[in-house]
Amino acid sequence: MTSLPKARVAVLISGRGSNMLALADAAADPACPYEIVLVASNDPEAAGLAAAAARGIPTWAQSHKGMKRAEFDALVDARLRAAGVEWIALAGYMRILSTEFISGWEGRMLNIHPSLLPKYKGLDTHARAIAAGDGVGGVSVHLVTAELDDGPVLAQVEVPIFPDDTPDTLAARVLIEEHRLYPRVLAQMVTR
Ligand code: GRF
Repeated sequence: MTSLPKARVAVLISGRGSNMLALADAAADPACPYEIVLVASNDPEAAGLAAAAARGIPTWAQSHKGMKRAEFDALVDARLRAAGVEWIALAGYMRILSTEFISGWEGRMLNIHPSLLPKYKGLDTHARAIAAGDGVGGVSVHLVTAELDDGPVLAQVEVPIFPDDTPDTLAARVLIEEHRLYPRVLAQMVTR
C-alpha cells in the first residue's frame, strides 16, 4: 500500500511549547496527514526547543534581538523554505510578524489563540474574560492575516467560566481543549 506524502509543518514557538507537543503527539500516529519537520523559535531559551529535540524533531532558534522585524522574518522564512516547509503552525509565538512574511505564507499559516475570537485579541485573554463577567471562554484556531489575531476562524471550542475561576484556573482548562483542537484543525487543513 502506498501512502500519501505527509504535509511538512513547521511549528513556531517562543515558550514552553505545550501546543507544539500536542501537535507532535498527534503526528506520531501513522495515519496523521502531517509531519513536523522543524520547530523554530525567536528565543533560544524557549523550553519547547529542548522538548522537541528530545523527541528527535529538528529545531532552529535565533534571537530576534538587535534585528529589524522584516530582516529577522526573512531569516526565519529562508530557514523554513530550506527545510521544505509547506505549512506553519504558530503555537505561542510571541512576535508580531511582518506583512512580507505573512503574505508569503497566506492560507498556509495557522495560529491558536486562547479566546473565542473576535473577542479578546492580544494578551491576557482569560483575565479580560473574567473581568467582563463572561460565562464562557475558549479557544480559536484561525488563519493568520495581516491584522493580529484577526484571520478567518477555522474552529473554536467553548469552555465554561466558573465564578471562582482565576486567569490561571481558566487557562489550564482552556489549554486542555487547545491540545485537542489544534491537531484536529491542522490535520483537516492540510487534507482539504
Ligand atoms: C497558548 O495558550 C496559546 O493559545 C497561546 O499561547 C499559549 C502557548 O502555550 N497562543 P504553549 O507554549 O503552547 O504551551
